[in-house]
Amino acid sequence: MPTLAFDVYGTLIDPSDVTRQLRTTLGERAEGFYQSWRDKQLEYSFRRGLMGAYVDFAQCTREALAFVCAQAQAPFDAAAQQGLLEAWNHLPAFADSAPGLVALQQRGIRLYAFSNGSQAAVGALLEQAGLAEFFDEIVSVEAVHNFKPAPLVYQHLLSRTGSAAATTWLVSSNPFDVLGASHAGLRSAWVRRSEQAQFDPWGIEPDLQVASLLQLAERLPG
Ligand code: 2OP
Repeated sequence: MPTLAFDVYGTLIDPSDVTRQLRTTLGERAEGFYQSWRDKQLEYSFRRGLMGAYVDFAQCTREALAFVCAQAQAPFDAAAQQGLLEAWNHLPAFADSAPGLVALQQRGIRLYAFSNGSQAAVGALLEQAGLAEFFDEIVSVEAVHNFKPAPLVYQHLLSRTGSAAATTWLVSSNPFDVLGASHAGLRSAWVRRSEQAQFDPWGIEPDLQVASLLQLAERLPG
């Protein structure tokens, strides 16, 4: 029986929901601003992982917002930025997340959440999104003070699930996460949540590509 570990931001939970709040000030610039913010947030986690300078992922999010506000000369003062950061604690689940997790649970599959977010932040986020009940455990990279896609974090995941890499699937919409898990010897499922999403041309393919967690429940072998 496989074990499944789900990435959180972008896979279970929709971070682009912050665009709604951005749009009230930025109008049609909101989507581009959000994407720059998300890209810079992840870039900061990659840099800090390589530097061995771990901080809470929320600090990457906060500092990325400050950078993009300055870069875009966006009219968000400290209070407005705090409001935008608070929105990351109240993000919604994707519509297919709960139904897909129910279908997988009914197959008797053990489910974990696995994230760059801190243990407390991800626990609270999944609770408010109505998803916390599905998981045997929430595994955060916080325990090993590094970030995805460092091999160490996938080894930590396996130490928490107690499962072998060959029977443990990382499920993520983020290609960097899928490639990191594959490199660490895990199975991988890429959740391609939009037609525009592109996978990196590294010659390494996910074991499964799906458009939703319901499709994952249908196509996951064994
Ligand atoms: C995660 O949840 C950042 O999506 C990434 O770990």
